[in-house]
Amino acid sequence: ATAPEPYEVVIIGGGPGGYVAAIKAAQLGLKTACIEKRGALGGTCLNVGCIPSKAMLNNSHMFHQAQHDMQRRGIDISGVSLNLATMLKAKDDAVTGLTKGVEFLFKQNKVDYIKGAASFISPTQISVALNDGGETQVETKNVIIATGSEVAPFPGGGIEIDEEQIVSSTGALSLQKVPEKMIVIGGGVIGLELGSVWSRLGAEVTVVEFLGGIGGAGIDEEVAKQFQRTLTKQGLKFKLNTKVVSAEKQDGKVVLKTEAAKGGKEETLDADVVLVSVGRRPYVTGLNIEAIGLEMDKGRIVIDDQFNTSVKNVKCIGDVTFGPMLAHKAEEEGIAAVEYIKSGHGHVNYHAIPAVVYTHPEVAWVGKTEQELKADGVKYSIGKFNFTANSRAKTNLDTDGFVKIITEKETDRILGVHIIGPNAGEMISEGVLAMEYGASAEDVARTCHAHPTLSEAFKEAAMAAFSKPIHQ
Ligand code: FAD
Ligand code: NAI
Repeated sequence: ATAPEPYEVVIIGGGPGGYVAAIKAAQLGLKTACIEKRGALGGTCLNVGCIPSKAMLNNSHMFHQAQHDMQRRGIDISGVSLNLATMLKAKDDAVTGLTKGVEFLFKQNKVDYIKGAASFISPTQISVALNDGGETQVETKNVIIATGSEVAPFPGGGIEIDEEQIVSSTGALSLQKVPEKMIVIGGGVIGLELGSVWSRLGAEVTVVEFLGGIGGAGIDEEVAKQFQRTLTKQGLKFKLNTKVVSAEKQDGKVVLKTEAAKGGKEETLDADVVLVSVGRRPYVTGLNIEAIGLEMDKGRIVIDDQFNTSVKNVKCIGDVTFGPMLAHKAEEEGIAAVEYIKSGHGHVNYHAIPAVVYTHPEVAWVGKTEQELKADGVKYSIGKFNFTANSRAKTNLDTDGFVKIITEKETDRILGVHIIGPNAGEMISEGVLAMEYGASAEDVARTCHAHPTLSEAFKEAAMAAFSKPIHQ
């Protein structure tokens, strides 16, 4: 028998980077396989990240509203209670539906789905330890590595994650009981999203953050301050400029020792559950990168601006390489990497990648912050519009927050958009599109926006950036 034709592309990892790359490659007519060891497609995002966290955020928000926000709307309800098991099941059902959906898309597009753990023999030969037992080998002309990331352990060790009492985001998405007291180590995106979930469901949540502000990297300082005020009103407590030194299990509780970030002032805290959310790190375990000699930099796989690694015909995308660890960034890279293989041309605009925190209100941004522009010596203007002056936000009784548009002073070109407010995560797309097309604030301000919508706040912020808003 003759050996089977080699694949044109083999993608290692079936997360948002990998599965999107695989579908695109097949659509472009390349013979494609995707190797995934998890037993389900969708990666971190669909299985233990974006999707389950958004299911819990949406439903915990509804529970919280039912408990605290209905009477003033003229809705009298009583006897509201939580059925956590059902809420968790709704989350699991959403995950299963979507991961199965990706599997269906693989079939529809004729992507070969190989279930197992990939490891390099050479740049064109990959061995797969099959989930069902045994081993197979695949030959390919090109490889795209999309192996993603994993939870970063607590720096210096000492805090062991058991996913029950001391949990990462994965455990925090499946707690079987609402903890009385929860401590969140790290006030970045995961800490604030999952801290909000359990706070809404009844836990007393304290966030301990090393830095002087919350929200993680890239957030505008003015937004971060308002964000903290809003979450504080919702009942979350914050200890900023504070680092956790140790966490130990004692008599059914977890006892934490903290000290001031700069040293000094020590404190002891206790909690029923501790969430460790101090970042994620690239994942290459078992890939046998040594066999092909891939260049690495601080744990990330090094690539050039066309996703080429240091090894010919091996590309890399997503969380395992440089840039923000975001699903949509991985997806963009997946498509571009495949297009480079097929035609030699691809495109990702790293200046226009949005970030969204799915709390309530949501926080979203794209482009430069005021702090970055100051540091770069760029002269800028700001247009800001508060949701309290937006008719739709007022009628919805949901007026916390603002839209802030930053433009280049001389040209009026939009350099950054920062939103805290209802539906910010959807609204930011308008800012991304504006930046993608090099729009000025005036371009946006002269674009008709439907009334009454929250998006009018975006238009008015643009008006404020180059002239004056009407309603404020
Ligand atoms: P991953 O999604 O990590 O996928 C990599 C896959 O590769 C995994 O399934 C893994 O099993 C597989 N793999 C690894 N090694 C091998 C091997 N040797 N052989 C075979 N398979 C292998 N991002 C957003 O944009 N929006 C959000 O709302 C959001 N929410 C998040 C919430 C949480 C709690 C977490 C943890 C993350 C969240 N993220 C969010 C981040 C997002 O999940 C990641 O940026 C995204 O999943 C990265 O995609 P990826 O394809 O690079 O890697
Ligand atoms: P993060 O990088 O967003 O935040 C970690 C926070 O922990 C930082 O504010 C940091 O200063 C703090 N920290 C670090 N060490 C500490 C210590 N010893 N004590 C106290 N604080 C400490 O990381 P996070 O929240 O774990 O999320 C990881 C990544 O997952 C994010 O960067 C993001 O890329 C992705 N993600 C995206 C989401 C979204 O897009 N909505 C949702 C959740 C995750």
